[in-house]
Amino acid sequence: MIVNPDIERFLLELLPERNPVFHEMEQVAARQNIPIVGPVVGNFLAQLVRIARARRIFELGSAIGYSTAWLALAAGPDAEVHYTDWSGDKAAVAREYLRRLGLLDRVVFHVGDAVEALRASPGEFDFIFNDIEKTRYLEVLELAPAKLRPGGLLVSDNALWHGRVLQPSDESSRQVWQLDYELSRRPDFVTSLVPLRDGLLVAFKLMHG
Ligand SMILES: C[S@@+](CC[C@H](N)C(=O)[O-])C[C@H]1O[C@@H](n2cnc3c(N)ncnc32)[C@H](O)[C@@H]1O
Repeated sequence: MIVNPDIERFLLELLPERNPVFHEMEQVAARQNIPIVGPVVGNFLAQLVRIARARRIFELGSAIGYSTAWLALAAGPDAEVHYTDWSGDKAAVAREYLRRLGLLDRVVFHVGDAVEALRASPGEFDFIFNDIEKTRYLEVLELAPAKLRPGGLLVSDNALWHGRVLQPSDESSRQVWQLDYELSRRPDFVTSLVPLRDGLLVAFKLMHG
C-alpha cells in the first residue's frame, strides 16, 4: 500500500455520502478481486471532471462501471461517457449498475479493445481516463493526446504501479514509468503525479501548445 493506512482511513472519513449503489459496487469488487479506483480516487476524478467542465469523456478499461459512474455523475445529464472493456460479462454488470444509478442514457458502451475503440471514435474528448492493462500504456501515450481537446485532461491510473516505477524491471512497470516521464516532460502538457491510492497521473493539455 502506498498511502499510509491511517491517512487512507482519514481520506475515506472526509468523503461525503454516496449513493448506496456505489457501496454495493465496492463490496462486489472487493469480493471478486476487481481492481476499481475506490471512493477517494472516484471523488477526485469527479472533481477533475467538474473543474474541466468535461462533457465528452472516454474511459479505457471500465470493468463493472465503478469509475464510469463517478465520471458520468459528475459530467451531468448532457454528458457522453464512453465505457470500454473487452469483457461482455463485465459490460452487462456495469449496464445494470449504471441503470440503477440513472446514468445509463449518458453512457456509450464499447465491448472490445479499448485502444482500438478510442482510435475509431471520431472527434475530440474533454477528458480521457486510462485504466487498461499496463503493457498498453505506451499505445495510449501515442494515441490519446491527439484525441484530447486543448484544455482537456488525460488521467492515468496506477501511475506508481505499486511502487514498481522506482525500479522498473518488467514490461508493465517500464511502460507506466515511460508514460509518467514523457507526459511530465511534454511542453504541450502540464502534468502532476498525485500519490492517491496507486498514483494518478493528471495531464492537462495546454490551450496554446
Ligand atoms: C483496472 S480494471 C478497470 C477498473 C475501472 N476503471 C474502475 O476503476 O472502476 C481494468 C479493466 O480493463 C479491462 N481491460 C484491460 N485492458 C483492456 C483493453 N486493452 N481493452 C479493453 N479492456 C481492457 C479489463 O478487462 C478490466 O476489466
